Amino acid sequence: MAKPPLSMKPTGWFQVAWSDEVGVGDVHAMKYFDQELIAWRSESGQVTVMDAYCEHLGAHLGYGGTVHGEVLQCPFHGWQWNQQGRNVCIPYENRPNRGRRIKTYPVTERNASIYIWHDIDDREPFFDAPDVFASFGDGSSEADYYPQQRLFEPGREMHPQYVLENGVDFAHFKYVHGTPINPIFTRHDFDDPVSYVDFTITFEGDDGQRIEDINSGVEAINGGLGIAVTKSWGMIDNRTISAITPVDERTSDIRFMVYIGRPKAQVRNPERARVKAEEFGAEVIRQFRQDIHIWSHQRYSDPPALASSELEGFTAIRNWALKFYPDGKGGSAADLAARATH
Ligand code: FES
Ligand SMILES: [Fe+2]
Repeated sequence: MAKPPLSMKPTGWFQVAWSDEVGVGDVHAMKYFDQELIAWRSESGQVTVMDAYCEHLGAHLGYGGTVHGEVLQCPFHGWQWNQQGRNVCIPYENRPNRGRRIKTYPVTERNASIYIWHDIDDREPFFDAPDVFASFGDGSSEADYYPQQRLFEPGREMHPQYVLENGVDFAHFKYVHGTPINPIFTRHDFDDPVSYVDFTITFEGDDGQRIEDINSGVEAINGGLGIAVTKSWGMIDNRTISAITPVDERTSDIRFMVYIGRPKAQVRNPERARVKAEEFGAEVIRQFRQDIHIWSHQRYSDPPALASSELEGFTAIRNWALKFYPDGKGGSAADLAARATH
């Protein structure tokens, strides 16, 4: 294992919890980006993510803080803080402390996940977190799918960018996931902070097939480095979300979610269909675990020894990734072209 040379403080949307981990009235303690944080849900259902320490005398609000309507009360001296992190009540004074503010983070809640916008320069969000249904613009919704199946691997020694690079890495599918032939990419669009990668892939048949004859594939949308959503076609209907969030300078929490499509028509045995879907979801998760096994022991190679067929994809994704490193520690994508093996 090796500490990633890439910054562990990239900009973007990152998952910090699942929605059902933070019910109404709950205060949830967590650590991301080397900061102690809390997420709490008000009576009206609004989730706030903020720094964990009370600006009065520094109590950790995740240990005994309580939700009162739309505000959070500190367990130490009862000061109350609103969803903007402003102090709204000191119970033994006439006036709140208007000057002090607890840092809050922009929050998006979708696909049963809580995402925060992280930016060390405190810039406003400059793209949207992708939605595993709406972002594909095909009219699909959660109702068309069985409930989300999940994987959670906390504290792995890896960087979010490893996961995204997997998306241009056609050569790993055969070795890590056992595909009979190499997939081919049909779209690499890395112009904007939200990028698109489509590829033709099959998990079936033998190595005598030609990829040109294959009628199945995956479309992926990368919302920055933190969240990627995929949609499959021509195979069992599935959608996935991978969400990798840095915890500290060495480790990240890995979350992966899969949705399997419900049968389009009435089926004779709905329970059997559900069990089959669950098994298929478990198989998709197993494949993601195969990647985790590599990532969590990998040393990030920069510049890598690329084959010429890999040059374009890796150059595109590493250049794109630079957008998310305000501190400039994004590696040296420009060196790639010079060092590729021919
Ligand atoms: S430390 Fe929070 S109210 Fe005093
Ligand atoms: Fe993979």
